[in-house]
Amino acid sequence: MYRSHTCGELRTSHIGQTVKLAGWVQRSKDMGGLTFVNLRDRYGITQLNFNSEDNAKLTDEANKLGREFVIQVEGEVIERSSKNMNIPTGEIEIKVSELTVLNASKTPPFTIEDDTDGGEELRAQYRYLDLRRNPVQEKLRLRNKVALETRKYLDSVDFVDVETPMLIKSTPEGARDFVVPSRMNEGQFYALPQSPQTFKQLLMVSGLDRYYQIVKCFRDEDLRADRQPEFTQIDCEMTFVDQEDVLTTFEGMIRHLFTEVKGVDLGEEFPRMTYAEAMTRYGSDKPDIRFGMEFVDFNEVTKGRGFGIFDDAEAVLAINAEQCAVYTRKQLDKLTDWVRRPQIGCKGLIYMRYNEDGTFKSSVDKFYSQEDLAKWAEAANAKPGDLILVLSGDLAKVQKQMNELRLHMGDELGLRNPKVFKPLWVVDFPLLEWDEESERYHAMHHPFTSPKPEDMHLIDTDPGKVRANAYDLAMNGVELGGGSIRIHDRDIQSRMFDLLGFSKEEAEAQFGFLMSAFEYGAPPHGGLAFGLDRLVATMGGSESIRDYIAFPKNNSGRDVMIDAPSPLNEEQFKELNIKLTL
Ligand code: AMO
Repeated sequence: MYRSHTCGELRTSHIGQTVKLAGWVQRSKDMGGLTFVNLRDRYGITQLNFNSEDNAKLTDEANKLGREFVIQVEGEVIERSSKNMNIPTGEIEIKVSELTVLNASKTPPFTIEDDTDGGEELRAQYRYLDLRRNPVQEKLRLRNKVALETRKYLDSVDFVDVETPMLIKSTPEGARDFVVPSRMNEGQFYALPQSPQTFKQLLMVSGLDRYYQIVKCFRDEDLRADRQPEFTQIDCEMTFVDQEDVLTTFEGMIRHLFTEVKGVDLGEEFPRMTYAEAMTRYGSDKPDIRFGMEFVDFNEVTKGRGFGIFDDAEAVLAINAEQCAVYTRKQLDKLTDWVRRPQIGCKGLIYMRYNEDGTFKSSVDKFYSQEDLAKWAEAANAKPGDLILVLSGDLAKVQKQMNELRLHMGDELGLRNPKVFKPLWVVDFPLLEWDEESERYHAMHHPFTSPKPEDMHLIDTDPGKVRANAYDLAMNGVELGGGSIRIHDRDIQSRMFDLLGFSKEEAEAQFGFLMSAFEYGAPPHGGLAFGLDRLVATMGGSESIRDYIAFPKNNSGRDVMIDAPSPLNEEQFKELNIKLTL
């Protein structure tokens, strides 16, 4: 028996008992005659007490223990003379009578404590050591709990967990594929799934009725804090449902997760907003509605005063940062520099302070009188003490920039409390989006999404205006998940491929299997997928999903611990009959 108890278990009620513990040496303190060792495992930390008066040899051995040595001890639980009430085991310690070193350790490259001195890169390289730290393990435990409760909920409403293949043909979800060469089929490649989309639809054709899978997906796209090249979806599909059925089912799931895992009641029915409204009010299809600061259309109150930048712009948008008129010139300059960074790309930032004495001070006083500025204040519903920030340009661009500025101000003003959770269904997404580069329409969600029947008449004349039966769940400014009611009719699906610029042959070659399936009694169906990593990170109050993944990739898509990706050897290339032209 390695241990009778864990390092987080012993209390004063155990005093007098002889116990065995095993774990890692967190630190040891030689106090001259008395040596204290903090022994750590997943469950906690217990103090070990070695006394040279009782056992000089053992205390000598204890003094030789280094950080992260793996040891086993036997001893008696005694009351501590100086108690540490910050930890659950802080009232007791072990008077050690036997010590076995199970394995020595090199000095770790950073301290393995809650607050470590290790930089991000070093910790990534030694991720297995970083994972020994309690705050990191807590994140994995949160992930486990969310996955477990997801399964419980979905099982309770008749969803069946079905695995789908990893070596498939490309599914278009908007990113590049990771490809895998096939040795047995020379010159041919599998693609790793960007999602199990077509398979889950086929399972509906098979009559499975309700499918789910917690599944790895792979997308070769540029990485951000909330994007990894391999990530996990809670992927779901249902038969004989309309949009309302899907939203109700998964609102139930998200509520269940928050209640069971966080003890948080998400309150009233999740609010809903159309895509068009979300873009007008927040410039984002995943608005953070924990705070206001909604966009105000400033076209009317700014045009025609000779200020070219506003006069010539398609859109002039403002936000009201309440009680921020106290911002100094220096702070406003800093904010201007912030919006000018290439990531945001504004040319400048116009502001107007609504002074406490009722006067206005703007950065464009030359063009706007006090009466004009009073109109700005009225339009933005501003009060004395408020600060109005204005951006202008092409509508789509300025919405995007203003969204960034709004979120930045939200952060600066502490309005984005990570302990507050505000879900929002965004509905009625456009079916298509115009891609300037390729000069054709792309599916905004994916090509299997059904158009709204009432918009079908626009499909030939004004396809950009057609709305889809597609929806996303946003929370705190993060897109947690999204899905749609699918096309289940071969002709409509074929028309959709047509619209997306696929020739008949291309559509047949890529999706013939799906269209054939639609000819054998495909039922109406729909579903969605949540990003598990994003869901868990949001629940944990973080914007970065990396901390919630045991072995994540860095910003260049590399795993620096195992050093992947890496070159193949000659032999492997030969076997695959592949020649590198690098
Ligand atoms: P979608 O592409 O919107 O839909 O993906 C669903 C959810 O997956 C998460 N997600 C990601 N998380 C981390 N890193 C990434 N690179 C990444 N990409 C996506 C997001 C997103 O909301 N097949 C459809 C779903 C459906 O229609 O049922 C799909 O994959 O949280």
